[in-house]
Amino acid sequence: MSDGPAGNHGAELHGVPGRPDDAHGELMLRTFAFPADANPAGDIFGGWLLGQMDIAGASLARRRAHGRVATVAVAQMSFKLPVFVGDEVSCYCTISHVGNTSVTVEVEAWARRHDDSGTVKVTDGHFTYVALGADRRARSIAK
Ligand SMILES: CC(C)(COP(=O)(O)OP(=O)(O)OC[C@H]1O[C@@H](n2cnc3c(N)ncnc32)[C@H](O)[C@@H]1OP(=O)(O)O)[C@@H](O)C(=O)NCCC(=O)NCCS
Repeated sequence: MSDGPAGNHGAELHGVPGRPDDAHGELMLRTFAFPADANPAGDIFGGWLLGQMDIAGASLARRRAHGRVATVAVAQMSFKLPVFVGDEVSCYCTISHVGNTSVTVEVEAWARRHDDSGTVKVTDGHFTYVALGADRRARSIAK
């Protein structure tokens, strides 16, 4: 995806357009915050952002688990700054732990402001996913 005509606002490129220098992990999701996801003042609901981060983390966990996963826990969520309507939201993911049946992913959410005032880290959290078999029960993950 293009970073748009206004450029990166000081963010250095590391192979991913618009990636901030201090973002950690792989870009797994990029989307925009729409008015339907906000309160009347234009602040995006925390639940919307949590959902985007969950999807991003699940994508990486699914790849590591080689199949279907389910979210079993969300921990250490920290909403540092608000997200506003029109912000471009990017989720960067890192696998922090692989257990017998579970994968834990650290997810950082960054917002490129709709008014081109910069790109800031808004939220991070730890998402744990369990690999599921066809019977919907936990299955072992290959090391
Ligand atoms: C996922 C599910 C099948 C696991 O059931 P289970 O086999 O009884 O779960 P267990 O207690 O054996 O835990 C399985 C793994 O998850 C981990 N886990 C469970 N609860 C956890 C928690 N609160 N925090 C971190 N890890 C957790 C366990 O440590 C274990 O990991 P490991 O095998 O790598 O050591 C079951 O919990 C489930 O279906 N949950 C609902 C999932 C879902 O629908 N998510 C979407 C919600 S809308």
